[in-house]
Amino acid sequence: MTAVITKEKRAAKRTTSKKKGATKKTRPKQTEKSKVYASLVVQLLSLLKGEHDFIANAANFSALLFNSLPNVNWAGFYFLHGDELVLGPFQGNPACVRIPMGKGVCGVAAQQLETIIVPNVHEFPGHIACDVASNAEIVVPLFDGERLLGVLDLDSPLIGRFDDQDAEGLNELATVFVAHEQGLGR
Ligand code: SME
Repeated sequence: MTAVITKEKRAAKRTTSKKKGATKKTRPKQTEKSKVYASLVVQLLSLLKGEHDFIANAANFSALLFNSLPNVNWAGFYFLHGDELVLGPFQGNPACVRIPMGKGVCGVAAQQLETIIVPNVHEFPGHIACDVASNAEIVVPLFDGERLLGVLDLDSPLIGRFDDQDAEGLNELATVFVAHEQGLGR
């Protein structure tokens, strides 16, 4: 089964995340995952601060994710070049270099302009296997406004590793990353 997280769903989630019975004064309990992602935002901002090199920043971003998130065997980028995705900075095993739009999880996420969570990649039609250890995957599109820049891709050996909280956290990190690059006029 594949979960597609639309922008609308993400927005709705944010406004409906209050727990049952919570009063207005009750602070929503921060889960372990959301704490990890909040900390990653701080660490990413610190890594990016004052640095203008896009490749260096993308490389450090992938290294941060790869080394901070548990059960992740690949983390990195594919950037849109013409009508295909081309491998960018990453951590993990060597990967396929070019992915056509609409192919594999990355190509589908890029074509649909949506985050895609795949609990079991072996059940995803057309999944492109780059690492035999990968069993689950999440792909987050990167936008410069409405324009697609590419995708952020994470693989895990653990079936069902990624959920809506990962989607939310990774989207926030991706937004921070792109905003920084835009600010520096890459
Ligand atoms: N599995 C991806 C290909 C990229 S690797 O996971 C690094 C896909 O199906 O698009």
